Amino acid sequence: MNSFMSWIGGKMALRELIVTLFPVEYERYIEVFGGAGWVLFYKNPGKDFEVFNDFNELLVNLYRCVKEYPEELKSSLKYALNSRSEFNRMKDTLTNTYPGDPVERAAWFYQLIRYSYASGLTSFGSQPHDMSSNFPLFDQAHSRLSKVVIENKDFEKLIRQYDRPMSFFYLDPPYFETEGYYMNIGENGFTAADHLRLRDILMRIEGKFLLSYNDCAFIRELYDTPGIQMETHTRLNNIKQRYDNGAQFSELLIANYDMRERSRRNPAQMSLFDISSGNELVLAETPAPLINYYQEE
Ligand SMILES: C[S@@+](CC[C@H](N)C(=O)[O-])C[C@H]1O[C@@H](n2cnc3c(N)ncnc32)[C@H](O)[C@@H]1O
Repeated sequence: MNSFMSWIGGKMALRELIVTLFPVEYERYIEVFGGAGWVLFYKNPGKDFEVFNDFNELLVNLYRCVKEYPEELKSSLKYALNSRSEFNRMKDTLTNTYPGDPVERAAWFYQLIRYSYASGLTSFGSQPHDMSSNFPLFDQAHSRLSKVVIENKDFEKLIRQYDRPMSFFYLDPPYFETEGYYMNIGENGFTAADHLRLRDILMRIEGKFLLSYNDCAFIRELYDTPGIQMETHTRLNNIKQRYDNGAQFSELLIANYDMRERSRRNPAQMSLFDISSGNELVLAETPAPLINYYQEE
């Protein structure tokens, strides 16, 4: 299924590939840098215990409202005004003082995402849009999130909390040298030092991780360690296509396990047909025995 929102750096285009690179066995799935959650919404819910996390408080509040108060959220959005002055008013209010009511806060934040240019939250997009056309996506996301634990933590604290030998972390941090895109409303900021902090914690975990990054020398060097696999995937750069036909963008996928384990076990199931048709049923996780989970602080 699709995400109910768009977000800078969203993995819509890569989600099918990413799911084929998941380990075969795990019990906990933790999406550390959640954003629009394209991978979470695409993956089979299976029987694993799932966690969605993002450090952006406004984004997480929106997820919690989609999960807990979908009807109230839709009512709040029903008569949304797609106008520049409303957009600026909501942006200023969310930047300076948060409205106390979580549903109102979620509705305003969603409007900022929907009505801003390229979902950048900063400038009004001036695009016609019927807000109620998004409501079926809210309903689907509400059902999908029913058993997902939603967290609002810095990655280090989250990883420490959920790390176990059978945990699997999918991580899609702000790309190297694009950290500034995530300095907007609700964000805490991600710095160059955070890339090192992330590497240091990932090198010590008991569980498995799959990390997506932009392909660059700095990140390659950071993860150039025995036991770490890297794969490059190139795709057309949608933004640059307008000016430079054929422009490509390289993504780096990094893991501390064998990323091809799943395709080797089920080569027939990993045909291009299956991948391109989005037939994820055949790629479903091997159900792992469920253990008792509890939420630690
Ligand atoms: C590249 S985006 C993730 C996109 C997501 N995979 C998707 O499909 O939409 C990176 C996310 O990391 C979040 N983030 C930034 N700093 C963080 C931190 N210290 N801990 C956890 N999340 C953080 C940002 O709010 C942003 O949503």
